[in-house]
Amino acid sequence: MKLGHTVLRLAAGLSAVFASPTFAENNWRLFRRSGTEDLKNFKGALLLKNGEQTSCEIALMYGTSGFVPANCLDYTDSAGKILNTTTSYEVLISNGLTGTYGRFMATQTTVNPNYDPESFANNIAIIQFSGNGGGDLVNYIASWRPDWTNLYFVRRSVMEATSGLWNPPTLTTYSANSELSDCARANPLFMYNQQDLICNQLGTASMVNTSCSIPYGSVYGVNNPNVAIAALYSHSAVYGDGEFCSNNKIYNYYIVMQNYVHWAMSVIGKKAPVFHTRVPEYTENLDPNYSMVIPNPKNVSGVTVYGGDLYHLNSTATETEKEDDDKSGMPVGSIIGLIVGLLLLLGLLAYFLRKKLLKKYADTRVRRWWFFGRFNKEEKEEEFRAPGPDPNDPHQPTSYPVQF
Ligand SMILES: *[C@@H]1O[C@H](CO)[C@@H](O)[C@H](O)[C@H]1NC(C)=O
Ligand SMILES: *[C@@H]1O[C@H](CO)[C@@H](O)[C@H](O)[C@H]1NC(C)=O
Ligand SMILES: *[C@@H]1O[C@H](CO)[C@@H](O)[C@H](O)[C@H]1NC(C)=O
Ligand SMILES: *[C@@H]1O[C@H](CO)[C@@H](O)[C@H](O)[C@H]1NC(C)=O
Ligand SMILES: *[C@@H]1O[C@H](CO)[C@@H](O)[C@H](O)[C@H]1NC(C)=O
Repeated sequence: MKLGHTVLRLAAGLSAVFASPTFAENNWRLFRRSGTEDLKNFKGALLLKNGEQTSCEIALMYGTSGFVPANCLDYTDSAGKILNTTTSYEVLISNGLTGTYGRFMATQTTVNPNYDPESFANNIAIIQFSGNGGGDLVNYIASWRPDWTNLYFVRRSVMEATSGLWNPPTLTTYSANSELSDCARANPLFMYNQQDLICNQLGTASMVNTSCSIPYGSVYGVNNPNVAIAALYSHSAVYGDGEFCSNNKIYNYYIVMQNYVHWAMSVIGKKAPVFHTRVPEYTENLDPNYSMVIPNPKNVSGVTVYGGDLYHLNSTATETEKEDDDKSGMPVGSIIGLIVGLLLLLGLLAYFLRKKLLKKYADTRVRRWWFFGRFNKEEKEEEFRAPGPDPNDPHQPTSYPVQF
């Protein structure tokens, strides 16, 4: 039954790839999968600092802008608030199928005003760069988490920054949520902001030390047959002696971008390309000042939090706490764990009930896609009129239903 379903969906995915009119289009926008091995066809991007590759991936929006984790940038103060503008930031874009690629100098980096370098809340920034003649690339941000039936965890790297030769991306598919209460126990930020974070223990060999396992760089939301980038690696919580490359228990947290899209629009001054299904439940966070809940306390005893560029860890390990066993810590932790567990159980129950109720809508959910969210009525419409790379191109669709 389940297998039959999967085969059907795969077949649907394949036929969509072949029938899709965008397959022949010049600009590759939204990836339609025919298999996970096609990932190299995605446009991916890496952050370079002072000419060296980092482990930090960039979620492109256009050939001129993208999201980058805030803790991948350098700061001059110990509080991590003042950007070091002496560091040279560059964006390396993979060729994918077509469109802008190469190495571009950042022209502006804008850190989310609610970024908290201690807890890594709102760990997101916008990097703007000089693209190819203004950029011919549009890359969609997955903006509706309930759409995602599966997740692709991806790690990209180049052999060396100067050659621009990309290694094949490492990819794994994963959607289990069995670790959620452990994820919350290890990191208070996750406990309060599960809608904005994805957490698990997945790892892949670091390209600077193959015996060291590091998290993936980005996460894609999959809703067969479409795939769009949804989250970026934010930080990790490591138990024990605080060594990152050890066999200690480690939880990795990825920041989901959907709640930061309108903030991004306020920075780049135009509509951000987002991808979601056309379901009545779809809601968009219109608040450009959106913030996660900042936890208090921000860290837990016996856990070290890392983030940023994992290839140059010495300079980016941010929080070390090695207190002796906190007398009150354990019971509080267990109680909170229990509460989180119960909430999760209730959440799961609600999810399955809802899923059952929504079953009759299943067809429309798969077939109807809208690539652009509603406009914020308070925003000046003319600023966001042209979602495509070329506002003068009459062939630019503003919405695009998939045809099978
Ligand atoms: C700022 O960045 C430059 C280049 O990366 C580095 O040499 C310098 O030490 C940094 N300044 C501070 C105050 O961290
Ligand atoms: C590489 O990782 C291993 C395992 O985590 C660690 O023991 C070793 O010291 C690392 N090597 C280097 C050169 O950092
Ligand atoms: C966002 O914050 C800025 C600065 O604090 C404020 O001027 C603006 O009105 C806020 N916008 C919304 C939609 O809350
Ligand atoms: C843990 O969080 C508190 C604030 O809640 C902060 O004062 C402290 O410095 C943090 N510990 C470390 C080691 O970062
Ligand atoms: C990181 O620390 C180790 C040992 O403390 C040192 O040998 C290494 O050179 C440092 N790496 C960087 C990039 O600073």
